[in-house]
Amino acid sequence: MNNLVVFFSFSVLVCLSHAIEVDFCVADRSLPRGPEGYACRDPATLTTDDFVYTGFRGGRTITNVPGNNVTLAFVDQFPALNGLGISMARLDFGLGGVIPVHSHRTSEVLIVSRGSIIAGFIDTNNTAYYRRLEVGDVMIFPQAMLHFQVNVGTTPATAFVSLNGANPAIQFTMNSLFGGNLPADIAQQITLLSNAEVMRMKRAFGTA
Ligand SMILES: *[C@@H]1O[C@H](CO)[C@@H](O)[C@H](O)[C@H]1NC(C)=O
Ligand SMILES: *[C@@H]1O[C@H](CO)[C@@H](O)[C@H](O)[C@H]1NC(C)=O
Repeated sequence: MNNLVVFFSFSVLVCLSHAIEVDFCVADRSLPRGPEGYACRDPATLTTDDFVYTGFRGGRTITNVPGNNVTLAFVDQFPALNGLGISMARLDFGLGGVIPVHSHRTSEVLIVSRGSIIAGFIDTNNTAYYRRLEVGDVMIFPQAMLHFQVNVGTTPATAFVSLNGANPAIQFTMNSLFGGNLPADIAQQITLLSNAEVMRMKRAFGTA
């Protein structure tokens, strides 16, 4: 009973703190972003175009080493998402292309629109859930889980994803370890790799 009262009070608090005061809050990117997102642009200045994102049109060229081309429609690319808790991305893969293992602050749902990919995630018990997906197939990557995609078809592949945050971020595990400012000796200690292996990775990410 007590638990129920506590739960109910908490629910009311959560609802109140998310009381909806405006229809939408298209980001004013000239002002700094806070933890809840951007300030709103004056609705009187908005047009339909502010609610449309055309950045997914057309073909993609694949030139990077992993063989992918990722087009984000997060709040910084599509300011109308501000405050709505939703975003998208388009993933293009060359032959054999991959999106290396990464995570977001949010969950993600993916649909394949061209080709065939292996998609998967790894949970906190180190259990990997992965399989081949064909056009039209949908897979979910639960919140914050490490996940990845690999083009295993005989053609380029494309998938679209949606994430339940306007600014879900992308943290590529290998970039974090070897492509940032983490010193090589610490990287070596915390990954159990050899110095040669760490230096090979840092060279691959241009930090050695
Ligand atoms: C992705 O494809 C577009 C369109 O061809 C191209 O302009 C862009 O440079 C590509 N991005 C990468 C990272 O290859
Ligand atoms: C956790 O992983 C172990 C070893 O792979 C497996 O046997 C076990 O079933 C997993 N537990 C859960 C809850 O997934």
